[in-house]
Formats: sequence, structure tokens, C-alpha cells
Amino acid sequence: MSGGLRTGRDRAGGRPLRPRPLFLPEPGRPFAVVPDETTGNEPPAPEVPEYGIFGVHPVDPEPVFRYRWILGHQVSFALWRAMSGIIGDHESTVPGPAELDSLAAFVDGYSAALLYASTVPRPHYHSHVRRSMALQHPAFSGTWAPDYRPVGRLFRGKMRWQGGLSCAGLDAAMARNAATHDYLADHLVPNGRSLLRQSAHEAASTVSREKEALYDEFFLTVRRPVGRAEFVRQLRARVAEVGQDLACHGLYPNVGGQHHPVVSGPAGAALITLVPEVLRTLARAARFVAAPRLQGVGR
Ligand code: HEM
Repeated sequence: MSGGLRTGRDRAGGRPLRPRPLFLPEPGRPFAVVPDETTGNEPPAPEVPEYGIFGVHPVDPEPVFRYRWILGHQVSFALWRAMSGIIGDHESTVPGPAELDSLAAFVDGYSAALLYASTVPRPHYHSHVRRSMALQHPAFSGTWAPDYRPVGRLFRGKMRWQGGLSCAGLDAAMARNAATHDYLADHLVPNGRSLLRQSAHEAASTVSREKEALYDEFFLTVRRPVGRAEFVRQLRARVAEVGQDLACHGLYPNVGGQHHPVVSGPAGAALITLVPEVLRTLARAARFVAAPRLQGVGR
């Protein structure tokens, strides 16, 4: 399965599976104008290696699933950032066909990142991933995601132009995404009690800057001025890293001789087509982010 890529229990493509900091502007802040920063003559988009669904070589679960949880979220943050650029320009006017296609590609990319992050076996999710989030804060929640704030209205169907005929493709991607998040939430936490919901007093409180900072820190996300070319490079590099990991370890890695498939049964029907398409969907979203036509977007 891994061809020339050197596989290791905690390595992919010869590199240790260590998540790196993601640099992003503050939500709502434009990309920095970096002198001599040229976009458009970036290195070509990364290859999209094939990957197997069931991993062959046994992995060391802790580094592999921490890596996937953080990388999957970082890719989601970058795609939300790209979405906020388009939405910011279309408070009341419906975006053009090219922008609607881009938004749909970003939403599908987010769904693929959700599945990639959630391939952690449920027991390991509770004993390691969820535990480390609860140690960061007992009410740790996706509602604290700073880059989600500017796009939350779109995910809740609150943009004035949503639901129009021209939005059919985007609305379909939104429906797939809602089904994906809810399916994975049920899969990893069958009782549905998120950390936030378990913390009754926190559930009602607002999302402070401190909570956003705790959230960023957990996912190694650093706020500073970032030029558009650097933003595109970071996203491309992460899609390439997802590709190396999947090519080495499969979508469902071999954990002690066992595989832990995520998508199954009638409830998984909405996600089944995504299982072999995680990487192509992410690579497509990254191509849309890098596309010249979006140069002025999110400035
Ligand atoms: C795989 C990575 C995940 C990502 C990127 C993610 C992302 C998000 C985001 C952005 C929100 C805010 C939605 C809004 O404000 O409208 C949210 C809310 C929520 N998510 Fe997730 N989520 C993930 C996994 C999970 C899991 C595993 C659960 C299982 C409990 C879950 C349960 C919830 C719940 C119940 C909410 C509502 C607010 C809360 O109770 O925290 N999510 N999620």
C-alpha cells in the first residue's frame, strides 16, 4: 500500500507524525499585504496519493490519532477562513457561481477533515483525545472555534441569500456536512453529552477571548499577520501531510491488529461516498483556495 513511502508506527513519508503550528490572522482581519509576496507561481498542488481503507502496518495510536485530531481541525480552520472571505463580501447579495462553487468545495473539504479527524477508535478518543480537551478546559467546545464565528451564520442557514435556486449545490454540501458532524458526534460520543453540555453552568455562558485562546492553543494555532501566499502554502502542506499519513496508515489504521471503521450501517449512508474520497475532496478544496479568481477574496 505505501509504495515508496517509508511507513513507521508513528511516521509517514519518513517524517515523524508531529503536528506543526498553524499561523492565521485574527478572525475578521484581512490577509497581510506582504511586499514581494507573489501568489500564482507557487509550487504545483501536491500529488494525491492513493490510500487503502484498512491500514496494514500496526501503528502507535497515541501519536497517530493526536496528529489526525489536530491536523483535521487545522485544515477545517483554514477552510473556514477561506469561506469567511467570500461571506464577508456577500452580506446581502448572493455570491456569483464561481464563489458558490468555492464555498461548496470548502464545505465538502471540512466534511472530509471531520471524517479524517474522527478515525480515532472510540475508546482511544475517550481515554486520550477527549481527556486532553477536558484537561484544557472542562467545557471545551467547537463553539469556541474563533474561525467558525464568521461562518456560523452560513452553517445555520442564516444568510439572506441561502436557499435560492443558485445555491442548490452549496445547500447540498451543507446538508452533507451537518449529517457528517452529527454522525461522527454520535459515533464518538453515543450519549451525545459534549463536554460543554456536561458543564451546565458553562453551557449558558458566552464564548470569551480566553476560551478562544484556549481553543487555539490546544490546536497549535497562532494568531499573527499572515499573507495570502503563506496561508495557501500552509493549507497545501497540510493536505499533503494528510495524504502521506493516509497512504502509510490507511483511513482506518491497524491498531494492535484491529481496525475501527467509522462509517457503517444505514446511518452512515450519507458519508459512505466520502470514505475513499477524503484526500481528493481536500485537494479539491485546496485548489479552490489557491485559485487566482479568489485572489481578492478575504483581502
Ligand atoms: C471531529 C471534529 C469536530 C469538529 C471540527 C466539530 C466542530 C464543531 C463546531 C464548529 C461546533 C459549533 C457549531 C455551532 O456553533 O453552530 C460544534 C458544536 C458541537 N459539536 Fe462538534 N465538532 C467535532 C466533533 C464533535 C464530537 C466528537 C462531538 C460529540 C459530542 C461533537 C458534538 C458537538 C455538540 C453537541 C455541539 C453543540 C455545542 C456543544 O455542545 O459543544 N462534535 N462542533
